[in-house]
Amino acid sequence: MKYIYIIRSIFLFSFLTVSIISCTELLSNESNPESLNTIDQKVETLLSKMTLEEKIGQMNQYNGFWDFTGPAPKGGHAEKKYEDLKNGLVGSMLNVRGVKDVTAVQKVAVEQSRLGIPLIIGFDVIHGYKTISPIPIAESASWDLDAIKKSAEMAALESSAAGINWTFAPMVDISRDARWGRVMEGAGEDPYLGSKIAEARINGFQGNNLSLNSTIAACAKHFAAYGFAEAGRDYNTVDIGTSTLYNMVFPPFIAAKNAGVKTFMNSFNELNGIPATGNKYLQRDILKEEWAYDGFIVSDWGSITEMIAHGHAKDGEHAAELALNAGSDMDMESYLYVKHLENLVGNDKVNLNSIDDATRRILKVKFELGLFDDPYKYCDLQREKEITGSEEINNAALDIAKKSIVLLKNNNNLLPLKREGQKIALIGALASDKTSPLGSWRIAADDNTAISVLEGLNQYPGNTVTFAKGADLTYGKTEFVSELKINTTDKSEFKKAKEVAINADVVVMVLGEHGFQSGEGRSRTSLDLPGVQQELLEEIFSVNSNIVLVLNNGRPLAINWADENIPAILEAWQLGTQSGHAIAQVLYGDYNPSGKLPMTFPRNVGQVPLYYNYKNTGRPNLPGPDSVFWSHYNDEENTPLYPFGYGLSYSTFNYSNLRITNNFKKNSKIEITIDVKNTGAIEGKEVVQLYIRDKYASITRPVKELKGFELLNLKAGETKVAKFELTEKELGFYDNQGKWILEKGEFEVYVGTNSQTQNKKSFELK
Ligand code: NOJ
Repeated sequence: MKYIYIIRSIFLFSFLTVSIISCTELLSNESNPESLNTIDQKVETLLSKMTLEEKIGQMNQYNGFWDFTGPAPKGGHAEKKYEDLKNGLVGSMLNVRGVKDVTAVQKVAVEQSRLGIPLIIGFDVIHGYKTISPIPIAESASWDLDAIKKSAEMAALESSAAGINWTFAPMVDISRDARWGRVMEGAGEDPYLGSKIAEARINGFQGNNLSLNSTIAACAKHFAAYGFAEAGRDYNTVDIGTSTLYNMVFPPFIAAKNAGVKTFMNSFNELNGIPATGNKYLQRDILKEEWAYDGFIVSDWGSITEMIAHGHAKDGEHAAELALNAGSDMDMESYLYVKHLENLVGNDKVNLNSIDDATRRILKVKFELGLFDDPYKYCDLQREKEITGSEEINNAALDIAKKSIVLLKNNNNLLPLKREGQKIALIGALASDKTSPLGSWRIAADDNTAISVLEGLNQYPGNTVTFAKGADLTYGKTEFVSELKINTTDKSEFKKAKEVAINADVVVMVLGEHGFQSGEGRSRTSLDLPGVQQELLEEIFSVNSNIVLVLNNGRPLAINWADENIPAILEAWQLGTQSGHAIAQVLYGDYNPSGKLPMTFPRNVGQVPLYYNYKNTGRPNLPGPDSVFWSHYNDEENTPLYPFGYGLSYSTFNYSNLRITNNFKKNSKIEITIDVKNTGAIEGKEVVQLYIRDKYASITRPVKELKGFELLNLKAGETKVAKFELTEKELGFYDNQGKWILEKGEFEVYVGTNSQTQNKKSFELK
């Protein structure tokens, strides 16, 4: 990392020693867009003043000088970047953060380039900035759209105070494959839930008024189908049919577009033979024309260059041509637009209109952010100091962290823990870890800043907690870019952990994945507990079976043995800065868990991809006692360990009286209601879920599809009515040409506590 700091010093020094041109032409009265009415007019006025080179400059995005969130470019390109900034050849930078550094680069762009067009400053504010909230899959488990929105709002507040005005979030990729490391960054496997969450997060980041200094532009990524990488291996090829593309992949992107997301990012994968970055069908035909999207598309890191390795582009120049013609507006870290577009225009390989169109889109977002009114609006040192890590932001992080926890098992009401006189053995390296809960997308957060489970439990003085890690989970560096190694041999502290467990009333074991074991580039072929943790669990179980297993992980894990043997299991993901407090509050019952899984937990990695909205096949059931001729495995069940939508509570809920108003006629709607009673002894929350099944159709439909949910808060003994509506929007689907159709026929509607509910009624679409 050292050289990065040297480059940084060179850059800042050069910046500080150049003479500052006081005011640029653009910011002068003559061309001040203030005097014009609409943003579109302002964009046109500015565009008319720009040279071709300057337009291409707007389409160029450079990484900063310090953090890298992709393969680091050889040599760092520091000098070239600085020159390009001065020459108006950079439209955006990513990974420049903090008021001091952002001001430095913004000053070069605004005060030294000919037109002084401000930079848009991008950063991966994925789940928090400095104060980290739960990883997105965890937040999605809350099914609490207000809390999710609030979390994004706080992330925007904190990052905007650090100079950032554009986040590369939300990732709205649907994925059914827990091997893929990036499932941690999405909303899980379902397009309906994924759409609602996409909307909530975008509304949180962008707010109602993008020109405030507390809101930032969002980015729906990765367009498209990145979550369907073959075998769950990151960046791998995607080959899916139109039906899956339209019915599973597109819905959250459409929701994002409808929510007014300002930008899209394309993806690393190829889709049916054409890399997304060079995919005209995806970017121009679908997104820009069919959906009439008017924001801009940024390429993913180096994805324009990568079209050469894909075997789609001959060389860099060809890659730039393909990307621009396909509709990619901004080049992130390929340097190919700035290098080749001018020539390509000269050679009639790309059209000047395409360059104008891309530049327009980019400038429009800059105007909407208010950057032309004040390029330094996010650059206030005092504001940065006051907002970073504020109480309000930490409170919101704690709130969503509690709501993200899913209770998977609780035999004999082992949880909540008794508050007094208990000897608790706390075991597992993750129990005292203050970095792992931050997850892998936490570039701006400092190591060792999360509250550990040990610290969280120590807030409850009535019991004694004795900690033993049992074994180290990892070794090596935990820097963002480094490879973290899993310890598969060290059992030196097993003995000590067993001694602690023998004498305890209850054992709390914190096991799972380190925060750096999921995320980009972190796919796995196994979904077991990594390293020696399974062995540790079984050894401790042999001396004290009264165990509460707290899982920390970024993806569904296959925990069959634990499910069979361990009495209580809590899914606590990677919950961010407030992790330990949230877990302790749930363990002690100060918060009654209400999360539901947004992704299926398999029994075995061999079942993956495994998802609730599967197709039935022609042979779904055992036809006779000895038959092998049905769709199944020889060595494992078809069913998941925990289904989509699953999660328990310290309360219990009873569903009764499912009612449907009438059959469905075209252009109308039906109402579905159900009574839900809290039959437990304490107040609790339940996510009431509605699924439909279209029993037969010209293109087969999934066995169940989520089409509504309601989060009810119920006092002990209280009954509430959950109400849903089904309209054409929920009952139709896309055919194999991508055309929306609504077909007559029979439907079933299910309402219950998870995707396996059998509580159903039928109706007909006439
Ligand atoms: C690559 C990732 O795929 C993308 O999601 C991220 O926003 C960029 N790198 C920038 O860090």
